[in-house]
Parts: sequence; structure tokens; C-alpha cells
Amino acid sequence: MTTQPLTDLPVRKLSIDLASGFARHWHGGDAYRSMYFNALSMSFPVGEQFFIDSVRAGVAVLEDKPQHAALRALCVQFIGQESTHRHLHGLYNRHLEGQGLRNRWQHWAQRRVERCRRIGLSPLNQLAVTAAYEHFTAALADATLRYQWMEGAEEKLQRMWNWHAAEEMEHKTIAFDLYRVLGGGSLRRIAWYVYVFAIFATESSWQTLDNLRRDRSLWRLATWGSAWRFWCGGQGMLRRCTGPLLAYLRPGFHPDDDDNRALSAQWLARYSAYWTRLK
Ligand SMILES: [Fe+2]
Ligand SMILES: [Fe+2]
Repeated sequence: MTTQPLTDLPVRKLSIDLASGFARHWHGGDAYRSMYFNALSMSFPVGEQFFIDSVRAGVAVLEDKPQHAALRALCVQFIGQESTHRHLHGLYNRHLEGQGLRNRWQHWAQRRVERCRRIGLSPLNQLAVTAAYEHFTAALADATLRYQWMEGAEEKLQRMWNWHAAEEMEHKTIAFDLYRVLGGGSLRRIAWYVYVFAIFATESSWQTLDNLRRDRSLWRLATWGSAWRFWCGGQGMLRRCTGPLLAYLRPGFHPDDDDNRALSAQWLARYSAYWTRLK
């Protein structure tokens, strides 16, 4: 585990013009990559609202002790970061609807959130789900920056995805630490992770296929050539993310076991002209 405890999570306003839109194949003319990342974006507004609500529910039952003050403050900043993500991805997704894509993932996710509410899922279980998703996003975020997955994309979208990636890496410990402070154990955490993994893999695949179908690029050879490179290439998802994703199954796992804060800080420093600190 890293020796430096996290003390600050700045809430930033990213300078980006999404009103002017972007190309259908914004990722360097590559239909598969564009539609895969579009699919991920479609899940964010509902998903990140669930993360925010879970952390709020966890903080509400956190004992009012001095040793929890720092984590409580970081939770407030976490909520600020996720709020800005969902806001910007909401604008981005509106543009996708204008391009003829349909966000089906948001309805699947919303139905699940409503089911959780109906059955009264405890804050600890909500946090276990959130920590699982946060591990996915942190693993993908690390690969996005480390292997420059956004290279070749429209500049403003590179900026948006890389900014989101940098902040996901920055706040990757929050839901996990809150879960543990509230008494959450490894068995529950790992069980929810396996469930979340199955849901995420299924829904991201269906939404990507639906995007490609509506984009009329589903049956092109170039689409599946790109998919092969994205998943199986040297810098691809399977090669680079399988290890980090499996690491979560270790009972003693902590997100800071992989200390990648420097990578996130590097990007944020290099692009400091494009964001301002809100709080
Ligand atoms: Fe986020
Ligand atoms: Fe996050």
C-alpha cells in the first residue's frame, strides 16, 4: 500500500465545448472504439448517481468520530467529482441521441437501482457494489492513460475521457475505504464484484452492439479488426486489464496496492490550463 494517505480530491471544472458536438466516429475514424466508449458513457449518469447515493448513505451511518473526519471530507469531494462527471457525460450522451444512438443501458441500470431501493439494500451492500464498479473504472482509467487509448481521438474528447480517467484513478479508494470503515469484509466485497463483473460485461457488450447496429458499422470488417486489436492487441483490454481486474479477488486487496497516483497527477498537471478548481 502507498505510504502517502490521500488528503485532497479537488473538484474541478473542465473547460470543454460539447455544445458544438463531435463526429460519429470521433475516435480517429474508428467505429468500434467510438461505439464502445460511447456505450460506457451511456452508463455513467445513472451509474455515477448510484455511486454518489451509496457514498451519501454510507457517510450517513458513519460514526461521528475524529478519526473519520478526513474520510468524511474526501467523501464530499468524491461526490463533487462524480457530479461533474455525470453532468458532462449527460451533455455528451445528448449528442449521441442526436446522432441516432439509443441509450438502453441507462434503463437497465435504472431498473436495477429501483430494485435496490425497493428491497432496501443496506448502505454496506450499496458500497460493495460501488467499490466494485469503481475498481473497474479505475482499471480502465489506468489503461486509458498508461497506454494512451485515446490517441487519435478528437482533441476535446481525448481531454474529456483522460480527465475522467485521471479523476477515477485519483478517487479510487474512497468507496472501498468507506466500505471497510463501516465493517465490510472481503467475502461480501468479492461476491458483489463477481456479480457486477457479469452485469458490466453483458451490458457493455449489448450497448456496444446496439450502437454499432444503429451506426450501420456492425457488419464491416474494419469494425471487427479494430475490436480484435482493442481486446487482444499488445496494449489491449485483455492483455492489460485482466491482471488488475483479477487482483480485486484477493482477500487482502486494497486499491492503493497499485500506486498509480503519479500517472493521474502527471496528466492533470500537463492539462492544468483546461481545468479550474471549484473546491
Ligand atoms: Fe466518474
Ligand atoms: Fe468514480
